[in-house]
Amino acid sequence: MEYFSIAGTNSRVSRIALGTWAIGGWLWGGTEEKNSIDTIHAALSKGVNLIDTAPVYGFGASEQIVGKAVETYGGRDKIYLSTKVGLEWNEGRVFRNGSKDRVMAEIEDSLKRLRTDYIDIYFVHWPDVTRPIAETARAMRELYEQKVIRAVGVSNFSQGQMDAFRSECPLHLSQPPYNIFERGIESSVKSYCENNRIAVMAYGALCRGLLSGKMAKGYTFEGDDLRKVDPKFNEPRFSQYLEAVEKLKLLADKKFGKSILAFSVRWVLDMGVPITIWGGRKPSQMDPIDEIEGWSLDLATLSAVDSILAEYIKSPVGPEFMAPPTGLRTAKEL
Ligand SMILES: NC(=O)c1ccc[n+]([C@@H]2O[C@H](COP(=O)([O-])OP(=O)(O)OC[C@H]3O[C@@H](n4cnc5c(N)ncnc54)[C@H](OP(=O)(O)O)[C@@H]3O)[C@@H](O)[C@H]2O)c1
Repeated sequence: MEYFSIAGTNSRVSRIALGTWAIGGWLWGGTEEKNSIDTIHAALSKGVNLIDTAPVYGFGASEQIVGKAVETYGGRDKIYLSTKVGLEWNEGRVFRNGSKDRVMAEIEDSLKRLRTDYIDIYFVHWPDVTRPIAETARAMRELYEQKVIRAVGVSNFSQGQMDAFRSECPLHLSQPPYNIFERGIESSVKSYCENNRIAVMAYGALCRGLLSGKMAKGYTFEGDDLRKVDPKFNEPRFSQYLEAVEKLKLLADKKFGKSILAFSVRWVLDMGVPITIWGGRKPSQMDPIDEIEGWSLDLATLSAVDSILAEYIKSPVGPEFMAPPTGLRTAKEL
């Protein structure tokens, strides 16, 4: 496993983090606790020491499972937990809330669910644009100064929003989406982070399973699975993305003898992103972790990837559909 030292902290984390959104069940068609705990244990046994979760993933369920899994595995002091703050929910609907009160209340709940008295990395999940970012940042600084959180992060923030945040609070990490198909951060966020020693911990390495290699035309999703409303998984785009995946599969196999999954995770790391989050919920999904090590993508391959995208993806689309609404609620909703 490759490891990375996060500037301004004592943390040396695995470059692959386990993502536990699907483990929470919500928007992923449900989940199962034993499988989830075994998945976390499988990742830890392969050298992953960073687990990403959030209160909103299953409305507490993911954090609870992560807490249980870490306790039963042991060695909390060698495992880095990253969780998030700033989303609230009401009858299954999610809103942004970056108020100081919300931050202070949520940390207590997360600590309990995670069965710990500190959080290694605490991310603001989405920027709350209905209030000054400085308010959220000051609350985060308070927690950081109290040493309840050991590193501060923001997620889904633009360059300008990170600038505003940093005028009130140290910022160690940023968590944006990034994978072969979703490259919005290349326009400014990525270089801004590099220039300011903010570690990028990118999510969605497999583009919600599209780059896992197991999807084909007609693939269906169960229950409340968010991919039912993801524009990439609906026609006419789904076929375009699947065609690109087929070409990428050939490239990965012909040049490196690797699966598309390993190739996609390696691509994120070799594009200069220090940490990539890989989402899973079944122990066997962690098997390919060993395939990521000991090789790298050369410039000709990176350029071949770009050519495939240009040829097959006629109407590219990002993950914007996932953005939760701001906290402007009607009286009825309150
Ligand atoms: N900060 C944010 O706003 C934000 C947003 C999204 C995600 N995240 C974080 O990033 C993590 C990863 O993102 P993600 O979960 O959206 O997507 P992802 O890592 O791109 O993909 C997860 C998908 O890959 C599939 N998969 C994983 N390992 C596999 C394997 N070995 N073989 C075949 N398929 C495999 C899973 O399949 P199944 O569906 O069959 O289980 C799931 O569909 C999340 O869990 C969360 O921690 C953060």
